[in-house]
Parts: sequence; structure tokens; C-alpha cells
Amino acid sequence: MEKQVVWITGASSGLGLHTAQALAKNGFTVVAGARSFGKGKSAEGCECLPLDVTSEESIRAFKERALALHGAPDVLVNCAGMLILGACESYALNELRQVMETNFFGQAAMISAALPLMREKGRGRIVNFSSINGLLGIPFEGAYTASKHAVEGYSECLALEVKPFGIEVMLVEPGDHRSGSRAYRRHSQGITDDSPYKAAFDIGTGVIAHDEENGSDPDRLGEKIAKALKKRRLPRRLRVAMADQHLAVILHDLLPAPLFDRIIGDYYKQK
Ligand SMILES: NC(=O)c1ccc[n+]([C@@H]2O[C@H](COP(=O)([O-])OP(=O)(O)OC[C@H]3O[C@@H](n4cnc5c(N)ncnc54)[C@H](OP(=O)(O)O)[C@@H]3O)[C@@H](O)[C@H]2O)c1
Repeated sequence: MEKQVVWITGASSGLGLHTAQALAKNGFTVVAGARSFGKGKSAEGCECLPLDVTSEESIRAFKERALALHGAPDVLVNCAGMLILGACESYALNELRQVMETNFFGQAAMISAALPLMREKGRGRIVNFSSINGLLGIPFEGAYTASKHAVEGYSECLALEVKPFGIEVMLVEPGDHRSGSRAYRRHSQGITDDSPYKAAFDIGTGVIAHDEENGSDPDRLGEKIAKALKKRRLPRRLRVAMADQHLAVILHDLLPAPLFDRIIGDYYKQK
């Protein structure tokens, strides 16, 4: 069978890097993009090109170079993402915009760049990284959770629109993974020492860090994505999470909001 060409964003670290390398190992031809690929980083087995998903110019240059290398993509994996931990009240607007620019508008712009090529082929697959936070909120991830809810809604609409062109859409919904990404986590400038949220923020983000460090294996996620992409039909959702995070999604949909809020609220107050 002809090798499938994958374009993947955010492949210089964390889950994107693990996914790009897993796809390459599984026989896909992988063209990987990230800002730091212009600065010496690379991903094993992949063609690595500089890409900033928040810049139309950078997306145009990536598309041209990727096309020249391996032609039109069969698969687009939108993994580039960022997180700024903060309190909803005190996020600076530019922090909210930065997160949305990368996590949502960046995905949308990559999709608009790839779709005409896929329509021309009469087939294609779009894989959008969401998160368990695309399905429920937790304290101090307001900007990120808003962006991932946007990804969820947009992807559902997209799937309906592109099906007639032979194009499928899958949402990847990871729970916490040991991706080593904690080092990059930014804190909002609104969390000052005298912030009324400071004490709860320190405890809540401590729980978040603990859960990431003890999360799922990122190599397994990459393998699961590769397996899904080998299927004749792409599942709409690929949720890869620890049992308690699967349970949280179910409880979120089943329980009355005050009861669910109490459970989640108490969880993020643990020391
Ligand atoms: N880690 C988890 O537990 C977890 C859980 C649920 C969902 N996710 C999702 O999985 C994806 C990867 O997360 P991660 O935790 O592995 O993060 P990460 O290690 O911080 O990696 C983020 C990746 O996105 C790239 N990136 C950021 N801004 C970009 C931009 N403007 N243009 C192009 N690339 C950009 C970064 O590369 P450069 O800096 O080189 O550009 C990097 O390769 C994200 O969509 C995230 O929301 C992660």
C-alpha cells in the first residue's frame, strides 16, 4: 500500500513528538512542524520544518515546503497547543487570546490550508487534539478549557461538512500524560502574591502537576493514534485517559452540577 503522508503540528516536544515518532515507526511519511524546528530540534524519522500555527505566513511557507517534499497530505494532525494556568477573573486578555490563537485559531488555519488539497484527492483525515478539558472544566485552566471546548464544537461541525468530500475527523481527548511538558507550563501574570486566588491556585496547580507526573504513557497515545489511522473508518473520538478521568467525564454528564462541582472542587483542594 502507498505510504500515507501525515502533516503534524506541535511535534517538537510532548505528545506531538511521541505521536510523530510513533507514526513514522508505523510506516507513515511524517512531515512535522513546530517553531523550534527552525532552531535545531528534530523528531526521529520525520521531516522537520519550522511552523508557527499563529502566523499565516509561516503556515503558507510550511505548506509549500511540505508539498514540495511529499505532496498533499492524507492526514493532518493538529497537536500544537499551549496552556497558561490562571484564574478566570485575572487572566490578561492577551493571555486568553494567546491560548485561543494557538489551540483553536491555529488548528482552524491549518485545516483551511490542508482541506483544499484533501478535497482534490477526494479523501483525507483530520485529527484534532482536544483534551479531557474539552469536555469538562477544572479550576485554573479556564483559558485552556475554553480553547479545547472550541476545538470540540468546531470539529463536530467540520466532520459534518467534509464527510461528503470523503474526509473524516477525529478528536483526540487525552487525560493527563507524562509528557514532560510541565516545564513549559506558564502561570498567568494575574496570579500575584496578593491575589485572592493565590492560595487556592498554588494548591490546585500542585494537584495538576502531580497528576501530569503520574499520568499515562505518551508512547501509548502515539501508538493508539497510529492504530486508529490504520482503521478503515476513523473513530470520531479517541479518549486516552486514566480510569478516574474517564469516570469524571461520565459523572460530569450524569450528576447535578452542584454535586459534580463539589467533587471536582474538593479534588483540587487536596494538599
Ligand atoms: N500533556 C498532557 O497531559 C495533555 C493532556 C491533554 C491534552 N494535551 C494536548 O496535547 C497537545 C500537546 O501537549 P503537550 O502537553 O505535549 O505540550 P508541549 O510539550 O508543551 O508541546 C506543545 C507543542 O506545541 C508546539 N507549539 C506551541 N505553540 C506553537 C505554535 N504557535 N506553532 C507551532 N507549534 C507550536 C510546541 O513546539 P514549539 O515550541 O517548538 O513551537 C510543542 O511541540 C496539546 O494540544 C495539548 O493541549 C496534552
